[in-house]
Amino acid sequence: KLTREFVAGLPKAELHVHIEGTLEPELEFACAKRNHIDIGAKSPADVDHSYGYGLTEFLKAYYNGMKVLRTKQDFYDVTWAFLQKMAQNNVKHLELFFDPQAHTSRGIAFETVIEGIHEAIVDGRALGVDTQLIMCFLREFSKESARQTLEAARPYHEKGWIIGVGLDSAEHHNPPLKFMLIFAEAKKQGYYLTMHCDPKQVDSVEHIKQALEIIEVDRLDHGMNIIENPDLMAYLVEEKIGITACPIAYYYTRQDMEEKAITTLFKEGALISLNSDDPSYKGGNYINDVYYQFAQKVGWGREELIQIAKNSFTTSWISDNAKKAYL
Ligand code: ADE
Ligand code: ZN
Repeated sequence: KLTREFVAGLPKAELHVHIEGTLEPELEFACAKRNHIDIGAKSPADVDHSYGYGLTEFLKAYYNGMKVLRTKQDFYDVTWAFLQKMAQNNVKHLELFFDPQAHTSRGIAFETVIEGIHEAIVDGRALGVDTQLIMCFLREFSKESARQTLEAARPYHEKGWIIGVGLDSAEHHNPPLKFMLIFAEAKKQGYYLTMHCDPKQVDSVEHIKQALEIIEVDRLDHGMNIIENPDLMAYLVEEKIGITACPIAYYYTRQDMEEKAITTLFKEGALISLNSDDPSYKGGNYINDVYYQFAQKVGWGREELIQIAKNSFTTSWISDNAKKAYL
């Protein structure tokens, strides 16, 4: 029988979580206070992370919450708090998204963001959590802004602080192809590539096709609509491209966990993993909650979750040698 203890004991990799989406009300309140920002809350219990349905509504709450992050200490603290959670969740390897343009566009220096996050990542190794960073471009921002961001990241990429680039935020009218040249340049510089193709977006399958066939991503984030195109799904399986699902996140924006897509991909042999996405905006559900709740929902047992955890390591960007410990 599947128990929470079993899930807690399973070594896992988390491959799809945004650091800004892990900011819990307590720390948000504390940052607001010390940075003298009025967020309209008298206590942490007043901090409101609620929103309506759909990606646009979620994104409003997400960008609103992160406004309190201003100093290197703030970025350190949010990362450190999350890494402690990851240790408690028995996450051995973490590939963590950050959204620099969401901060530089508010006048925060790129250095402030990356140095705060990186310092916590280094300290987090003592917790047994090995973390790599993935820098996401905001897709509603211009290509020029993405290019400047890639340029700002260059010295940090060269130091090994950033392993990959991703693409997230408002998907409508912002297809993968908009960033074709930026991603080609990032690949040339040695970054791994991934991209969000959120479920149930306009032209979702077309976006997935672009990401896989033209951009040639190393991994696909969400991409649940791929089941509508069996040829594309066969390609994903054949090429052993990882796909990151976030069922509890879907539940919070749309009241369904994409059970059909996730179980279909799993049965077809796709290298699918389960992830939390933005836990502090998804009911405070971290990765163990995601594994347990999704398994309960679809009747999965230990065997399926062991395979999911293996997939998370297989499709991570750690060395083949390091993977051996978990496979
Ligand atoms: N930014 C943070 N979480 C996101 C998601 N699930 N989709 C698009 N952009 C995001
Ligand atoms: Zn995401």
